[in-house]
Amino acid sequence: MKISKICCIGAGYVGGPTMAMIASKCPDIQVRVVDINAERIAAWNSEELPIFEPGLDEIVKPARGKNLFFSTEVHEAIETADVIFVSVGTPTKTYGMGAGKAADLCYIEGAARMIAEVAKGPKIIVEKSTIPVRTAAAMKTILEANSKEGTFQVLSNPEFLAEGTAVDDLSDPDRILIGGDPTEAGQEAVEALASVYGRWIPNERIIRTNLWSSELSKLVANAFLAQRISSINSISALCEKTEADVDEVANAIGMDSRIGPKFLKASVGFGGSCFQKDLLNLVYLSGHFGLPKVADYWQAVIDMNEWQKERFSTKIVQTLFNTVRGKRIGIWGFAFKKDTNDTRESAAIYICRDLIMEGANVAIYDPKVSKEQVFIDLEYLGLERAQLEKQIIMCSSCEESAKNAHGVAVLTEWDEFREVNFQKVYDGMFKPSFLFDGRNVIDAVAVREIGFDFYAIGKG
Ligand code: UDX
Ligand code: ADP
Repeated sequence: MKISKICCIGAGYVGGPTMAMIASKCPDIQVRVVDINAERIAAWNSEELPIFEPGLDEIVKPARGKNLFFSTEVHEAIETADVIFVSVGTPTKTYGMGAGKAADLCYIEGAARMIAEVAKGPKIIVEKSTIPVRTAAAMKTILEANSKEGTFQVLSNPEFLAEGTAVDDLSDPDRILIGGDPTEAGQEAVEALASVYGRWIPNERIIRTNLWSSELSKLVANAFLAQRISSINSISALCEKTEADVDEVANAIGMDSRIGPKFLKASVGFGGSCFQKDLLNLVYLSGHFGLPKVADYWQAVIDMNEWQKERFSTKIVQTLFNTVRGKRIGIWGFAFKKDTNDTRESAAIYICRDLIMEGANVAIYDPKVSKEQVFIDLEYLGLERAQLEKQIIMCSSCEESAKNAHGVAVLTEWDEFREVNFQKVYDGMFKPSFLFDGRNVIDAVAVREIGFDFYAIGKG
């Protein structure tokens, strides 16, 4: 089966970059990315793309208008496509059964119903969004029950890209995972999709599995990654008590080839749209299938992450003599990691919330996050806009944020923060006394020499 037209429902952090990469590697395939959010589509068609991702402009702009199209015409795109990627959000449910744990599948269901309504002839439906295991069964049921003229093969093809490195991850992935039905038609669909990736990814890195293994593997991959961070973060607390240095411990254990060096960086806590959501999902699924011990095991990874964030806010308040009321605290970084404008579940949101509630004024600088986004995130946690207007100062540089601050908290590991000239900060008219380095960005020795009372997670 030859694929000549692809449509992707959902122009978000996953759908946009993934489709741009397919379009750039397969000039003979027409790729249409559709979304019901007209503002987002307009941004994809403009000079300033809606998401910041290094290298993304370079793949989107040359293909746009040639074989890569962004539009709100969802029905038309579905009708003409051979393959339909479903890349809509699957946030944690906030209401009803499974609230706070289960994935909200309303967008997935909405997309499936739309496909059923519009599709004519054979279509391959690809689940790109991260979803609970066995969602493909629900998709198939909806498609088959509601479609008059379409026939469907549902594949699971989870995306493993990380934000900030999406373009590199897409062009040179560790693996591509495709799950499908064991039937002849199912396997034909798997091979059709594999042939698209096969244009630039060696066949041995394209794994074929059954649907359920593929769906579950995505949740498990994220759970294992998050678990490593919670593990090292738990050790950071022990290091603070024992004068061990968590970076030295991480280095020492990471050199064991069975453990490996990656994802062992102690931090103020992991953020992002995936880890917490997928862990919660795993906990919910384990409970649902009558495995409370498994659920408790993975819940502990989330609990440790919550505790790490709390511990960081508490440490700031305690170090500043148990009160931050009326004090200015510089906040460097608001995005959940460097090289992205995404703030979903960023530890910075929770640290700022805690500090604002303690009465501090927070002077925030992030190279890519807007004031509007900061306000949206904090309002979502229940803070009033009037209070935010009083207690948040948005800054345009690290120096401005540190000016007249009692302390500075580094919450994202942006490279430019490493370049800040502390001597200049120290010699100028302002001198923050404390540096709270949740991301281990600033060199500890240099900071001590300059005279900060220094604190970083895991370092005394
Ligand atoms: C993650 C997975 O890495 C990716 O494979 C999946 O497709 C989506 O979820 P992402 O959330 O974009 O990607 O970024 P990631 O680099 O995994 O970082 C997640 C969070 O963990 C960030 O807040 C980061 O700062 C934190 N982190 C990461 C640590 O605190 N320590 C580390 O050692 C690594
Ligand atoms: P991710 O980070 O997984 O890519 P996002 O939330 O950034 O998730 O993107 C998901 C996108 O899917 C949003 O832009 C949303 O408007 C879009 N979307 C959700 N449901 C539909 C639908 N039925 N049709 C088209 N687009 C949809």
